[in-house]
Amino acid sequence: MKTIEWDDESNSVKMYDQTYLPVEGKIIECKTVDSLCEAISNLRVRGAPALGAAGAFGIALAAFEFSGNSASELISFMKEKAEQIVKTRPTAVNLERGVIQVLDVCELEGNCVDSIKSLAVFESKKIADEDVLINKKIGEFGQKLFEDGDVVLTHCNAGKMACVDWGTALGVLRSAKEQGKNLSVVSCETRPLNQGSRITAWELLKDGFEVYLITDSTAGFLMRTGYIDKVIVGADRVANDVVYNKIGTYSLAVLARENEIPFYVAAPSSTFDKDAWEGNVEIEMRSPDELKFIGREKTPNAPEDVKVLNLAFDATPMEYITAFITEKGIYEPPFLIEELLLD
Ligand code: MRU
Repeated sequence: MKTIEWDDESNSVKMYDQTYLPVEGKIIECKTVDSLCEAISNLRVRGAPALGAAGAFGIALAAFEFSGNSASELISFMKEKAEQIVKTRPTAVNLERGVIQVLDVCELEGNCVDSIKSLAVFESKKIADEDVLINKKIGEFGQKLFEDGDVVLTHCNAGKMACVDWGTALGVLRSAKEQGKNLSVVSCETRPLNQGSRITAWELLKDGFEVYLITDSTAGFLMRTGYIDKVIVGADRVANDVVYNKIGTYSLAVLARENEIPFYVAAPSSTFDKDAWEGNVEIEMRSPDELKFIGREKTPNAPEDVKVLNLAFDATPMEYITAFITEKGIYEPPFLIEELLLD
């Protein structure tokens, strides 16, 4: 099964509940916008491209939740639900884009409740299917930057589980492997929610990669001592001047530059936002409890009354990025996002 799918029989969204990884590949079903929003907020589904599909499917769920027979009332209802979905996670641009794309098609082309429902399902499935093709393209371009024997460091999870399938950063590594290149991957644990240890290491081991898990703070020493050949990460939103990605990305980029190691960002063009600049994008601040407690058992990890800054993302200035790998090709900064989007 893909990371997230529309189920035609039950008109619901099925997805891996990623909070159970790596212990269990549990599949959950969201039948309402509320349950989808709960899944997004709690990172049952996560990663920018997967959130794009989740947002799109959310609009289809909204259409099926509506019980009236007026097309204009349905569109108003879908708009309300769209706001609710977009608010769940503010940093990754794909969530909002998925929601808007489906909503726009329904508003423009739908003329009755039934046609709006069909359009919402059709368009959201299209977004999900295209994501897989785009990731394969990113892989085709990106694999050329990697050589047999490379040791590659990655952060968070920009793999199959962050997308509908294949992955962006990890998709590049998968494509390199398909070309017969033998890569070792160093996966940062990615505190506090451990997407690197729970998801990236799990995905890559299943695909037969050699994987070394490290604590986030080990990366600098490995880079300085010549252990890492290249770094590759995904992105949540590429602004004109910075790249928003999982917290810790900026530190890795600075370390990579200090140690003259190429630093690549793999992302679909749908993650590039020509209207975004550092400062006008909200960086998600998550619950203090993610640092104060550990594991499902919620074992205390800090004094109860300590103040916490739990930023989910950071911003890396363009000058630290060696190249972007997109489905349209490889782009080296500086470049204009508008031009990339028009290519
Ligand atoms: O908080 P998450 O797990 O949604 O954060 C995900 C990331 O930061 C990924 O690196 C990013 O979305 C790129 S995914 C292809």
